[in-house]
Parts: sequence; C-alpha cells; structure tokens
Amino acid sequence: MLSPSEGKMMARCAVAARCWWAVGGALAVAAVLAGLATSTESPASSTAAASPTSQEARLRRPVALALAESDRRLLVANRCGSVSVIDTGSLQVVAEIVLGRRLSDLVLLRDGRHALATDEEAHKLLLLRWSDAPPSLRVVARLDVSPYPVTVRVDADGRRCYVASLWSRRLTIVDLATAVAASDASDETVPTLRTARVIDLPFAPRLQLQVRDDRLLVADSFGGRLAVVDTAQHRVLHIRKLPAHNIRGLALSTDGKRLLVAHQILNDLAETSHNDVHWGILLSNVLRWVVLERVLEPQGHILQDSHLHLAGDSDVAGGDPAGVAVTPQGLAVVALAGVDELALGTQRDYTLQRLPLGRCPTALVISADGRRAYVANTLDDSLSVVDLQQRTVLCHVALGPQPELSLAQRGEQLFYDARLSLDGWFSCHSCHTDGHTNGHRNDNLGDNSFGAPKRVLSLLGVADTPPWAWTGYVHDLRVQAEKSITSTLRGPRPPHEVVAALAAYMETLPPPPSVDSLRMSTADPAVRAAWQQAVQRGRAVFQQQGCGTCHEPPTYTSRDNYDVDLADELGTRHFNPPSLRGISQREAFFHDNRASTLEEVFTRYKHQLSSELSPDQLRDLVTFLRSL
Ligand code: HEC
Ligand code: HEC
Repeated sequence: MLSPSEGKMMARCAVAARCWWAVGGALAVAAVLAGLATSTESPASSTAAASPTSQEARLRRPVALALAESDRRLLVANRCGSVSVIDTGSLQVVAEIVLGRRLSDLVLLRDGRHALATDEEAHKLLLLRWSDAPPSLRVVARLDVSPYPVTVRVDADGRRCYVASLWSRRLTIVDLATAVAASDASDETVPTLRTARVIDLPFAPRLQLQVRDDRLLVADSFGGRLAVVDTAQHRVLHIRKLPAHNIRGLALSTDGKRLLVAHQILNDLAETSHNDVHWGILLSNVLRWVVLERVLEPQGHILQDSHLHLAGDSDVAGGDPAGVAVTPQGLAVVALAGVDELALGTQRDYTLQRLPLGRCPTALVISADGRRAYVANTLDDSLSVVDLQQRTVLCHVALGPQPELSLAQRGEQLFYDARLSLDGWFSCHSCHTDGHTNGHRNDNLGDNSFGAPKRVLSLLGVADTPPWAWTGYVHDLRVQAEKSITSTLRGPRPPHEVVAALAAYMETLPPPPSVDSLRMSTADPAVRAAWQQAVQRGRAVFQQQGCGTCHEPPTYTSRDNYDVDLADELGTRHFNPPSLRGISQREAFFHDNRASTLEEVFTRYKHQLSSELSPDQLRDLVTFLRSL
C-alpha cells in the first residue's frame, strides 16, 4: 500500500515522466521537477526559499548519500562542493549548503549530530555539525589528509575513521576523539580529528567496507585488488586479487558471510568483434557473491564457493554496475550506471529485475526498514526514489535547476553511457576507468587487427600527446572517438556531435599526478630533500642515456614511431612511445604489459640503454620516472 504522501508523489511523477519523453532531455526534466518542487505547499518549501543555493542553476553531480534523523532526511554530497538536504516525506530539497570544493563522500556519525565528508580537491576531511531545525550543516573541523581523498568510513564503535586517497594511494586512519565544544550549547561534545596513522597502499584505492570489528577491505579503483587491513594493528595484512576491474560496489550479505562485489571482467583473449561483444565474451558486468572468509585468508582460492549474478545479458546488457546495498530482508540492489537502471534480486535468484533510473546512477542508500532505496543519478543531478517492496520507482527528484551543458559536459555523459555500445554492454569508462585505465589488455582494432591485444591507454592528459593509439596513426581525437564507438563498443555509427562532445571531454582531462610527488609533499623536509636529489640524479641518467629523443619533455613522448625491439604477436614492431607522465600510476609496462615493474623495463628488457646501468643509476632513474 502507498501512503497518502507516496500516492501524491506518484501522481507528480507521472507528470514528470510524460514531460521527460515529450521534451526529451535531462535539462527539461530538471526544470520540470524543480518547478514541481517549489510549487507544492508543504512546510518544507518555505525552508527551501531560505536556502537560495538550491535554486541556483549549477551542475551539482551527486556522488554520495547518507540518511539522517531516523531516515527523515537524506543528505546528498555533490561533487560541486555542496550538500543538498532532502525531506524524505515530501521529497523536496529543503536546503543546500556549500561546504567545500569537490566533495567525494559523506557519512553520518553514530551520534546522529555529526557527519564526515571528504573534499577531493582541497585534500581534506571535513567534520560537519548537522542540525535539523532548520536544516543546517557547518564545518567544525578540517584535517589535511593524504591527497585526493575519495571515501571515508567510520569504525563500528565510532572512534576512528578511514580515509582512502586515490592518487596518493594511501589510507589515513583518523582518531575521532571527543571534546567539549566551546561554541556549542553547554555540555555538548563534538568529535575532533587527529591523524593516527598513514598506510601506503600498492594500488589507487576507492571503495572501503568494514567487514569485521578488526578488518577493513579497501578496493582498487581501477583493477581487481582488495587490501585486507587490520584496523587494530593499523597495517595491510595482505592483498587479494579478483578477476575483476572497475570495482564500484561493495556490501555484505544480510548474514555477514558473503561479500557482494559489483564489478566488470574484461577478457583479454576475446576480440571486440560483434560476436564476442554480443555474447558477453569480451566484457561482462557482474554482481559477485564471494565467501568473506576466503577474502580474509592470506591465500587460497578466493572464488571458492562464490557465485555470480550477471547484470543483464545479450540484447539487454547491464553496463557498468556501481553502488550496491543489501536490505535487511536480503534483497540486493545494484545501480547499473551505464544503462541508467537499478537491478534487484536475492542471493538465490538467477535473474535480476530492472527498473529505469536517471542518468548514470552511482551511489545508493537503503532506508533502515529496507523499504526504500535512494539512488544518486550523478550525471543528471537527480535522485531516484524506489519502493523496494512494490519494486517500482516512486519518483525522480531534481536537486535544482541546471545550466545548459557545455560540449565537454555532454561528452562526459556520453563517456559513461553504455548505450553507445552494442546491447549496452559497456562504456568508454568500462576500460578507460574514470578516464584512466583499468590496466588490462584488450584486443580491439586500435592497431587495425585482431590477434595482438594491447594495454588500455590512460586518457588522462591525452590532449597533449598526439598522435594516438599504440601505433600512432590517429591524428584527430574525434577520429579515435568514432573508431572507439564503432569498432570497440560495436555501437552504431555516431552523429558528429557525439564524437565532438567525446573529444571535447577527453581534452579536459588532466594527467594523473605522480604518487611519489604527492606523498613527498607531506613528507619530512629531510626525506623530501634526499628524494629531490635522487630525482635530479635520475634526470641526469635519463639525459645521458638519450631517452629524451623519443620521450621529449614536457610530455615525455614524441610524434614518431620507433622500433625498440619489442614485436607484438603479429610482428608489428613500430610503436609511438607512451607518454611517461603519471607513469607511477601504471601497473605494468609496454604495449602488452610484458614488464611488470619499471625496474624490469631496464633490467630484463634493457630498454634503449646505451650503456649498462649500475644499481644506483637504476634506482635514481626509476625515482626520476616515478616523479613525472
Ligand atoms: C574494451 C576496452 C575499451 C573501451 C570500452 C574503449 N577503449 Fe579506448 N582504448 C582501448 C585500448 C586497448 C586502446 C589502445 C589500443 C591501441 O592503440 O591499439 C585504446 C585507446 C584509446 C585512445 C588512444 C589513447 C592514446 O593515448 O593514444 C583513445 C583516445 C580512446 N581509446 C578513446 C576511447 C573512447 C572515447 C571510448 C568510448 C567511446 C573508448 N576508448 C572505449 C580500449 C578500450
Ligand atoms: C628510439 C626511441 C626510444 C628511446 C631512445 C627510448 N624509448 Fe622508451 N619507449 C619507446 C617506445 C616506442 C616505447 C613503447 C614500446 C612498446 O610498448 O612496445 C617505449 C616505452 C617505454 C616505457 C614503458 C612505458 C609504458 O607505459 O609502458 C618506459 C618506462 C620507457 N620507454 C622509458 C625510457 C627510458 C628511461 C629511456 C632511456 C633509457 C627510453 N625509454 C628510451 C621509445 C623509446
């Protein structure tokens, strides 16, 4: 049964849904929904008027959700730096508060009065004070954390939190001590933030999940690794590897025995032919149920006794699975970011039921009673509210008016859109994860042939490094984008605007920062000085060896192709040098990943050495390369 307010909401949704198709476009929907949000006479809308930011036209880009006030309020962290507050009864935006530069995550503390947010651009953890009457959030403390924080999780006892930082590849453990607040009312205490420990990780992390009191899992943002962290001893116990990439959802089953992972699998033995794409042989989208104990063990078969759900199949594929959650009743819910849908099912089902959402749904949260899901549609600035008992979408809520999208912003939507591909199997992001790379090899027609798979190239900084593709024969990013759609995604030939938008988006992507430079920015001055000297010595080795003829600074590539004694499976030997910028963010080297460390490039493959390197020279050269 629908409650009266839900019934009213459904009626409003029906209007919105008609408009969606009639005027065709997220912009129009946003405007329609924003209009609806202000036209109702609930008490909430008077608060909305007091909060002008929620009426401002801007791109919000919701990325994380947290429920507050016994699920009466939904807090939505937006990439634009604000938090939107939604009344879950009227489904109105009742406030929007700007708190930072680029928010990436948000969690509520157990006291219900404080929240933590990560600001990916300011490199800070924010402690926020939440109060409901009227809805407000303010920053009460800021802590510098390792650069590029993307997620934060709080311990079960609420005394500690963990911040995963993407490009600096670190986990910052923060103590949440409590202090009597000077500015707050009388006996009120607020948590304070203090860094307890910083742990280096061997990969760029994103998602985290506390799976036991003393165990935290941290997942790779691009590839398939999981770090098992002992939170009592503050150390990484071991690294487990799943046959996976793009791990975008992590949850525990209701009984706590299984780890549910939403990810993709790319098969480097398959080709981007119509057949291999259509049958899901090339790339599959899965919801994997792994036995938690297998993950926590240091070794052994991580997949033993695991099973999986395919998120879609031929003709109706479910590209780019993202946020997952499991309700107390055992219903698993997963956002399919590439096809704008939600998939629902239980551990024992064979198939998943699917519901339509807004554009690029990523994060989701379930109400405590398990009856509702709220999903953030990142690329159209809306939320979808889903009734999990009826298995229907109740409503889409616009977070506010949107400006007209620029060409590059439309390109971003397309980059994450699996509907450009045959059957909706995958998007550009499926391989070029968030513009970077999943690190895998893939056999596409990038080299105009099947039979010699190549490493997926990072597109971060791609605008500066023409010509493109390993064989360096593409001179226009639009040509590459069109080719990627038709011969990698196996989609229909795109109109010119699609190709132009994708190229414009790729041109906005900055190169990835160096892991070592980020870590050294916060290091002890003596350690930093020693590192800088090693970088200088390594630069001298680079110059003496003549590396710069092919890897010319500042992009560390050049326009020609060279034969450097590395043939592919079909005998091709001439390749365009990959840029060495951001090389510390790569996992393996050369066109087919044959070198698994940077050292190996020079020790095992003796890559273009005019003279043998001493161990010191090798160390300095690698230090220099890793600083780029
Ligand atoms: C199935 C995996 C996969 C998908 C999906 C994919 N690519 Fe690629 N992409 C690759 C691989 C592999 C290469 C290198 C191929 C080569 O050069 O032989 C590459 C190369 C590129 C390059 C050249 C980069 C450089 O520095 O030279 C661009 C640009 C590119 N892709 C854009 C896109 C766009 C845009 C999309 C979506 C329309 C897309 N790709 C989808 C695997 C993929
Ligand atoms: C004659 C041109 C040339 C010279 C000189 C040269 N390289 Fe390269 N380099 C290449 C090419 C081409 C590739 C890609 C080869 C392949 O993957 O098959 C490459 C690949 C690399 C890679 C792997 C990058 C990746 O992402 O896989 C590194 C690292 C590298 N070079 C560093 C160096 C250093 C250091 C020197 C000097 C000792 C050097 N190169 C000299 C042409 C050159």
